[in-house]
Amino acid sequence: MTLTLAFDVYGTLVDPSGMVFYLREDAGDSAEALCRHWREKQVEYAFRRGLMRYYEDFGTCTRQALRTVFRLHGLALPPDREDALIQLYLTLPAFPDALEGLKAAAGYPRFAFSNGTYPALEKLLGHDGLSEHLDGVVSVDDIRSFKPDPAVYAYARRATGAFDSPLCLVSSNSWDVIGARAAGLMAVWVKRDPGMVFEDWGIEPNAVISDLTKLPGVLG
Ligand code: LAC
Repeated sequence: MTLTLAFDVYGTLVDPSGMVFYLREDAGDSAEALCRHWREKQVEYAFRRGLMRYYEDFGTCTRQALRTVFRLHGLALPPDREDALIQLYLTLPAFPDALEGLKAAAGYPRFAFSNGTYPALEKLLGHDGLSEHLDGVVSVDDIRSFKPDPAVYAYARRATGAFDSPLCLVSSNSWDVIGARAAGLMAVWVKRDPGMVFEDWGIEPNAVISDLTKLPGVLG
């Protein structure tokens, strides 16, 4: 039976910490903390909007999170700088193992499956050549909710055609892995950093890999 793969994008194929380089101009030595905080708020805003049923797309979550963290860090964010940072967010680098990992999984149907919008995903997956190794892209924007709403994982089945065959999420985000498993999908957790901790919810990934090139080895 064909196993279909659904790759998470932000944090799994592309690296949000790529923004640290640019944020140094705004925050100096605090750029790393600011960047981490930005990502946390971005994800939190998506969770909250999903729960509140008050959808605005992931680009809005990203922009509103950016405004919030600049305020929290006591930094000014003029509109042109805000726009520039949002544009740069569309150029986040691929993780070094992303391209090789997608190539190594060529025997399986491979989809990107993300909270991001189609225009953002097209840019992100295009500039490092990742999209050439994907069979398609699925955005939660189609159903106006966000991971980890079980409805978006169910939608991923429909959008990838994996109705009667297994769908396996591949993600570095443990909340995403837990969300997918809770919704009945298989999931592989990508633990690039040995210090990463999987949240103890009593819901486990089907496999853990240290980088994407190891994926075929656990798919059997
Ligand atoms: C994604 C982010 C939220 O869905 O990881 O791509």
